[in-house]
Amino acid sequence: MTKRKNKNLTGNGGETHQTAGDDLEVMTTQVGMPISDDQNTLKIATRGPHLLEDQVFREKLFHFDHERIPERVVHARGYGAHGTFELTESLSDLSRADIFQRVGEKTDVFVRFSTVAGNKGSPDLARDVRGFAVKFYTKEGNWDLVGNNIPVFFIQDAIKFPDLIHAAKQEPDRGFPQAQTAHDNFWDFISLMPEAMHMVMWIMSDRTIPRSFRFMEGFGVHTFRLVNAKGKSSFVKFHWKPKQGMQSVLWDEAVKINGADPDFHRRDLWDAIQMGNYPQWDLGVQVFDEDFADAFPFDVLDATKLIPEEAVPVRIVGTMTLNRMVDNFFAETEQVAFQTGNIVPGIDHSNDPLLQGRNFSYLDTQLKRLGSPNFNHIPINAAKCPFAHLQQDGHMAMYNPVGRANYEPNSHGLGPREDPERGFRSYETEEAGPKQRVRSESFADHYSQARQFYLSQTDIEQSHIVDALVFELSKVDAEAIRARVVSHLRNIDADLAEAVADDLGMEKLPEPATPAKSPIDTDPS
Ligand code: HEM
Repeated sequence: MTKRKNKNLTGNGGETHQTAGDDLEVMTTQVGMPISDDQNTLKIATRGPHLLEDQVFREKLFHFDHERIPERVVHARGYGAHGTFELTESLSDLSRADIFQRVGEKTDVFVRFSTVAGNKGSPDLARDVRGFAVKFYTKEGNWDLVGNNIPVFFIQDAIKFPDLIHAAKQEPDRGFPQAQTAHDNFWDFISLMPEAMHMVMWIMSDRTIPRSFRFMEGFGVHTFRLVNAKGKSSFVKFHWKPKQGMQSVLWDEAVKINGADPDFHRRDLWDAIQMGNYPQWDLGVQVFDEDFADAFPFDVLDATKLIPEEAVPVRIVGTMTLNRMVDNFFAETEQVAFQTGNIVPGIDHSNDPLLQGRNFSYLDTQLKRLGSPNFNHIPINAAKCPFAHLQQDGHMAMYNPVGRANYEPNSHGLGPREDPERGFRSYETEEAGPKQRVRSESFADHYSQARQFYLSQTDIEQSHIVDALVFELSKVDAEAIRARVVSHLRNIDADLAEAVADDLGMEKLPEPATPAKSPIDTDPS
């Protein structure tokens, strides 16, 4: 809509007609033609057929018909806000990343919190993992830390992600449930994937239903690399610690809140920021070297395992403050595209097989969701530092190479060129061996950290885990699935397994599950 004002335009009668005037601008078509009547289609006489030449009507309906884009295949339900990240401790000895150099320097960020399984209109307080995705607009490109509020994940290899999500979302024949874990397919799959047991303990715990986004932690989950100016690499796990503290709600409270206000979490963030009560998180790093990784009893590339903070303390290096809501939900929160592939010099990926798969998936899905390879031209996704490349054209291109040369090398002396010094270089590792589909033996222990987590909980927290498992499993029709879950619980903690079996009315405890190499080796009976 243009900003043109027309003081002389008057209404054409009828009490409900609102016309442009001193304070209201003139409505136009997309290409700026002023509109005289937004109430009636163009027709013959007063009751005759419509005319195809009615461009005002056709443009309006055409555009409305195309308002929807596909929702995210996961994390469809989310809420975003702008803010800044301020570095409080330099990491220049560990990383050459520009964002980690100068204490006191601020970097713009955009954050999107989300649930995973529910569709776009699902309630906020589902028992589900929360996404915690941060886009840092650094001086050397956008760095996306696409994390969750739980430090581990369900699966170890990205090839199982579609199965996990199919099992967690609505069932294909009946179209429900969504945003709840209480159903046969989810527990069927999970109980055939013992690697999920650590994550199951977390999602059945009080950690899973935050009081609001402001009171939850965030984790990068995977092991990443930091690389310093001399090319030396360290491993790193990223953490977000809420300055507000951590608070959760109980399932009974969640059910009531979901009924009374399914937008509870987004409303909370909106209200807090609008009132100037800006939420803050500290960014922490757990940094360790190859020797630690080799000696650690679990594989640091296994995303179902965490590194205990007692073993490697979290070092706080900065603070993020969210201080501005979006101007437009669709333009910013819906169109933002986070990608694990967006890293910057000084930060690198590890060989975590889940992370490697994610690096493909985000770019691929965003092409489908946003409809054009130019989705980084949308302002919320565009870098705020200078950028120059020779990619061109495609749907909705807003940025194209300037001048005659759209290739390099060229002898016109035009266009950007690579910079071996400043440019991103992958950390060089030695990789050799047969090409094969295999899961490392070092990924095989599925129960020890699940047990450690369960035993780290207070009595009341443990009782909430029992209650959650009993509630969820009581919604599962197939007795064999319930028994299979309890057979895993027996490998986690005997009291936990007995309490759940008892409350489910099981007459006899199933045998403990045999740790299986793959779901195919698991006896599903
Ligand atoms: C969103 C894939 C694991 C965090 C998404 C999306 C896809 C995806 C396709 C939708 C992106 C979009 O439409 O913009 C995968 C795959 C995974 C995986 C293939 C494993 C192989 C994880 C893990 C985490 C995570 C382990 C956390 C560490 C997120 C978050 C979002 C997201 C936070 C929402 C981003 C937003 O707010 O827009 N994921 N994901 N994902 N994923 Fe993953």
